[in-house]
Amino acid sequence: MTERVIVSFENVSYTYPGSGKFALKDINLEVSEGEWLAVLGANGSGKSTLARHFNALLVPTQGVCLVGGSDTRTDDGQRRAREMAAIVFQNPENQIVAAIVEEDVAFGPENLGVPPEEIKRRVERALKETGLTDLAGKPTYALSGGQKQRLAVAGAIAMQPPCLVLDEATSMLDPSGRQELQQVLWRLHSEGMTLVSITHRMEEILRCDRCVVLNGGSIVWEGLPLALFRDEDRRLGQWGLEIPPLVAVWKGLVGSGIISCEVPPVLEEMVSALCP
Ligand SMILES: Nc1ncnc2c1ncn2[C@@H]1O[C@H](COP(=O)(O)OP(=O)(O)O)[C@@H](O)[C@H]1O
Ligand SMILES: [Mg+2]
Repeated sequence: MTERVIVSFENVSYTYPGSGKFALKDINLEVSEGEWLAVLGANGSGKSTLARHFNALLVPTQGVCLVGGSDTRTDDGQRRAREMAAIVFQNPENQIVAAIVEEDVAFGPENLGVPPEEIKRRVERALKETGLTDLAGKPTYALSGGQKQRLAVAGAIAMQPPCLVLDEATSMLDPSGRQELQQVLWRLHSEGMTLVSITHRMEEILRCDRCVVLNGGSIVWEGLPLALFRDEDRRLGQWGLEIPPLVAVWKGLVGSGIISCEVPPVLEEMVSALCP
């Protein structure tokens, strides 16, 4: 089976009007259907600028961005990109539009002119996917940060985009909120959704299929998350990234022959390796 490429950046550069410097420089990147791509990079490396190209909030100043096969510089391409990709942003507060949870999820499909029966079905499914079914009738202001961010994901998936882009979506959440959101992403990924997780938190990429690192607007590394942790200690620092403490411990233990697990050090795996 050949993988279908749903987003393709071809020599994409982007300069903000009047800034006189590249925010993105010569990006070549493909995202395939069903893939979970991680985009890592320090502050100012170009992550949000890249994210905004997925749904044509920005279009390249040089090069071509194809979403669903359409050039985002054209009207058709912009429509297509908005159907193909939804973005969840950093601040959950800014993404809630309605007073009640289920109304908030329905807002997007209502705007698309989806028939009421279908809206009802989509809202139920999106709430279930994000673990918010029991909160359907609750006021949105009463939700925790993690619940609000899951609500933002529910609103996005109710639009049924093939691709979901998360731009530092966990950065304002506490550890349990981050964990809740990661679990929702694992579930969506296992059901075949294309995901792009944009983050500066390296521990969030462990389960991703592939990872690219942005530095100064360019892709400086691409490969498997495990290979990044295993082989790139020195360069991680140069790119402004920190190796997660858990990974550092894992590497130390493997290096000294105490454990021999080859797999990414997700906490449960680490614990079972140490306490068999
Ligand atoms: N609206 C803007 N106008 C001018 N420059 C911007 C704007 N937004 C971001 N930039 C610049 O573009 C570069 C990349 O920014 P951004 O994509 O926000 O990075 P990140 O999301 O990785 O922190 C930075 O140098 C930033 O200062
Ligand atoms: Mg950003």
